[in-house]
Amino acid sequence: MRRSKYCGEVNREDEGKILTLQGWVHTARDHGGVIFVDLRDRTGKFQVVFSPDVNKKLHEEAKKLRSEYVIEVTGPVSRRPAGTENPNLATGDWEIYATDLKILNTAKHPPFEIEDDIDIKESLRLQYRYIDLRRHGMFNNLFVRHKLYQVTRKYFDENGFIEVETPFLTKSTPEGARDFLVPSRLNLGTFYALPQSPQLFKQILMVSGFDRYFQIVKCFRDEDLRADRQPEFTQIDVEMSFVEREDVIEVMEGLIYRIFKDVAGVELTTPFPVISYQEAMDKYGSDAPDLRYDLTLKDVTEIAGKSKFKVFADVVGKGGIVKGITVPGGVKYSRKELDDLTDFAFDFGAKGLAWVKIQNEGWQSPIAKFFAEEEKVEIQKRMDAGIGDLMIFIADAPDVTYDVLGRLRKEIAGRENLIDENKLAFTWVVDFPLFEWSGEEKRWVSVHHPFTMPFDEDIDLLEKEPQKVRAKAYDIVLNGIEIGGGSIRIHRKDIQEKVFKAIGISEEEARLKFGFLLDALEYGAPPHGGIAFGLDRLVMLILKESSIREVIAFPKTQRGQDLMSGAPSPVSYEQLLELGIVVKKKS
Ligand code: AMO
Ligand code: AMP
Repeated sequence: MRRSKYCGEVNREDEGKILTLQGWVHTARDHGGVIFVDLRDRTGKFQVVFSPDVNKKLHEEAKKLRSEYVIEVTGPVSRRPAGTENPNLATGDWEIYATDLKILNTAKHPPFEIEDDIDIKESLRLQYRYIDLRRHGMFNNLFVRHKLYQVTRKYFDENGFIEVETPFLTKSTPEGARDFLVPSRLNLGTFYALPQSPQLFKQILMVSGFDRYFQIVKCFRDEDLRADRQPEFTQIDVEMSFVEREDVIEVMEGLIYRIFKDVAGVELTTPFPVISYQEAMDKYGSDAPDLRYDLTLKDVTEIAGKSKFKVFADVVGKGGIVKGITVPGGVKYSRKELDDLTDFAFDFGAKGLAWVKIQNEGWQSPIAKFFAEEEKVEIQKRMDAGIGDLMIFIADAPDVTYDVLGRLRKEIAGRENLIDENKLAFTWVVDFPLFEWSGEEKRWVSVHHPFTMPFDEDIDLLEKEPQKVRAKAYDIVLNGIEIGGGSIRIHRKDIQEKVFKAIGISEEEARLKFGFLLDALEYGAPPHGGIAFGLDRLVMLILKESSIREVIAFPKTQRGQDLMSGAPSPVSYEQLLELGIVVKKKS
């Protein structure tokens, strides 16, 4: 290496030494007599001075330097004259008076400045991702991600886990999203599916006796994209044999603890709280509750059902529920703010939002007149509300009520500044139902995937009361975002058959889709279970970024496009012909 060290690493010990530095011209300022260049590499910046007194020819050459030129400079390190130090720069006490300069490459003027705190349109950043990744913040994000890989591999290695790669060209995995398909040229008319997860293969590795498996692995899901969803993303995927839920939870908490300690320097308190799915829904209206703030949902179904307010009574009469949230000090809400909250509720499918301000003189509310004094007292008691507070209510079918209030809870927490951004609120969510009703398909479908083991004591309910069957499944949630999920699996054929039957999957269909797993399970499958963490989401949360695109080197847009490479793109007629594919225009 011709380079003596990185720009950002020059320090006191280098004073007087002759160093060679290489990197990009961050800025070049011609101050009449001398030229100052901030030279930048992935570690930081260092000031280089070109003076005609040191070398006249070099000073002339340096006049050619422009932003983002790639150069090599040599010269002695000296302390900057008193008063010219730059306290904002780690290396701001020193400079090099160049005695040699090589312009290794020129550069076009960049489409945006290489600075962290500037506002650049994301589409421009993604189009010129190579420039964007020169920004220190982006390099740091990917460096943290790199550290997380290393800590993860080390942790699993120490704990007897074996990393095994599973195929990308494979069959469909049922994780609830659409598959990305890859046509097979050698077997015309057939397709591989890119894995939505390595689920089936990791279970097979347990049948093979690997006992403890992990993989840091890409997964592919063709689904609608959001800030925390990408069509290809990375999982920390894990499977273990002869374990129960608590064993998986313990191992994974150990990993989270290590990651936060070694990557973020944060010592977490374990074990994390564990709450049931039902409690999460009842209290927070979400199976991924944000526990950084309180604002819990309260139930008033019983009183509301008996009240003279027809809207509430009718909903309860039809099997619906009435729940609410108390906003402490919420009497301050203006009519406009209440209308905004009502519109917000409408947007997510509520039929209305009822509000009550508790004033000194009593209830101020469009629905006050429908309630007797004793009912008001009882409702306030259940709502844990008093003078000065605002109560809001939603009456609807349980799923709508939970969902809308869950979202309102988040919305109000934001408006009221209740979210402590420095908090890390982990929780396990357990005891999920095994099935949920799909209105679209008119059948029960698996909440997770069909290999999830039901509670032993619920197996008899599979046929008659599938809605009551609980799953040996668990999710881990951090600050309201699901960062992982897994389950104990079905390892016995008789139970697997019952589950398929309950969700209306025929034997032929099961055979066709995952016959290989079912076969394997008949050759001595040990009890087993596992989990997968969303690595991108974990890194995003560690870095307090608002989107996983900030922690992925080359992410896709909301429309699934890579603006830099231009993927996806049309292919040639010949290529399609070879694959036996004809593209029809959408009518
Ligand atoms: P699941 O589908 O819950 O489980 O996925 C595990 C975790 O992966 C992350 N994740 C995503 N991250 C970014 N973009 C996406 N599109 C995306 N989809 C999921 C989430 C999620 O918690 N095979 C099972 C695991 C198991 O049972 O062992 C599975 O894939 O953080
Ligand atoms: P109405 O009598 O229909 O004008 O409703 C009186 C109040 O109840 C209004 O503030 C409505 O927004 C509210 N409301 C109507 N339907 C519901 C509902 N399903 N849940 C909660 N509040 C509702």
